[in-house]
Amino acid sequence: MLHRLDGILAEMRRRREAMAALGWSAIAAYVGIYTLALVRFFFPRVLFEPSNVFRAGYPSEFTVGTVDTKYQKSQRVWIVREPDGFYALLAKCTHLGCTPVWKEAENKFKCPCHGSGFTKEGINYEGPAPRPLERCKITLADDGQLQVDKSIVFRQDKGEWEKPGAVLKA
Ligand code: FES
Repeated sequence: MLHRLDGILAEMRRRREAMAALGWSAIAAYVGIYTLALVRFFFPRVLFEPSNVFRAGYPSEFTVGTVDTKYQKSQRVWIVREPDGFYALLAKCTHLGCTPVWKEAENKFKCPCHGSGFTKEGINYEGPAPRPLERCKITLADDGQLQVDKSIVFRQDKGEWEKPGAVLKA
């Protein structure tokens, strides 16, 4: 009888220890996950995006009356050289954001998506585009090169093309 009672007590002890071990494991798992979340909080995911500012070359490299498309792919910007200065057009259609193409022979930008057309100045005149193309801030950098800042844009429909930076007089 006494031997049987010892067995029952031993079994109860074993179960209690097993339950305690399970409890401690759960606490350890909780603390581990919480610590990981805390560490993750202090090291947030950072997205390194390319700069919005780029140098586009020296003014003498541009021919008067032409649209320079060499930054269309890398920067999505066209540099237009007029007799009295420069402006930088953002190569983004104001309809749904496609990239138009410069058609030298027709002297216009044409959007391949839904057919919007823009003059060399960026004015919309055909297709569904609701407003002119945007111009990016253009200035002269310290080293004499054209500098374009895509984070600052000027909208013709808001009267912003007259603001400093919308055109670089030359
Ligand atoms: S996105 Fe250019 S016309 Fe629609």
